[in-house]
Amino acid sequence: MSKPVVAIVYHSGYGHTKVLAESVLAGIGEVEAVEGVAISVDEVDEKWEVLDGAAAIIFGAPIYMGSVSAGFWAFAEKSSKRWFELKWKDKLAAGFVNSGSQNGDKLQGLHALFNLSQQHAMVWVGLGLHPGNNNSKGSVEDLNRLGGFGGAFAQSNVDEGPDMVPQADRRTAAHLGRRVAEAAVRWGKGA
Ligand SMILES: Cc1cc2nc3c(=O)[nH]c(=O)nc-3n(C[C@H](O)[C@H](O)[C@H](O)COP(=O)(O)O)c2cc1C
Repeated sequence: MSKPVVAIVYHSGYGHTKVLAESVLAGIGEVEAVEGVAISVDEVDEKWEVLDGAAAIIFGAPIYMGSVSAGFWAFAEKSSKRWFELKWKDKLAAGFVNSGSQNGDKLQGLHALFNLSQQHAMVWVGLGLHPGNNNSKGSVEDLNRLGGFGGAFAQSNVDEGPDMVPQADRRTAAHLGRRVAEAAVRWGKGA
């Protein structure tokens, strides 16, 4: 029998969010009982069936002008074909967002991803971590250094390339992938 698929679908205009998608994929890869797959919104038209067969879908987007990028939202609107039949009902869902500013209105973007999941009648999985870097002994190297709860938050300096996406945010993204993969095993639905 084939393994349940945990899919990531993401947009990345300049490569930073792609690095985080790869970290989420690495986290999924730590759970042997599932198979991870990362799909860019640019290639999604050939991959709808992968999403339809997945046990879980993790949405990822950069923050552009205070919410998720138009590139991601074009995918969200295209997913309305699935909405008509509630094709993604009861799949697990989760999200990660990345912005240039420390805050950058990331929560607005994460809520857009959450709302998308609820339109599809999916079941949202949060990050499941305490906040890091919130006391005098804390550091920017802490897991969940940006202190998110509903998903994985990341911050990428706007004058640096994707190689410089902070390691702590990559680890936080990997944690989310692992958590959703473990949840998918417990949830036991999907394909
Ligand atoms: C059109 C545009 C709008 C942006 N708006 C925001 C914003 O509202 N808040 C923020 O913190 N960063 C903003 N940024 C910065 C991006 O979120 C940041 O550079 C991010 O790492 C880009 O990810 P990507 O390389 O995956 O596209 C914006 C960037 C662009 C290109």
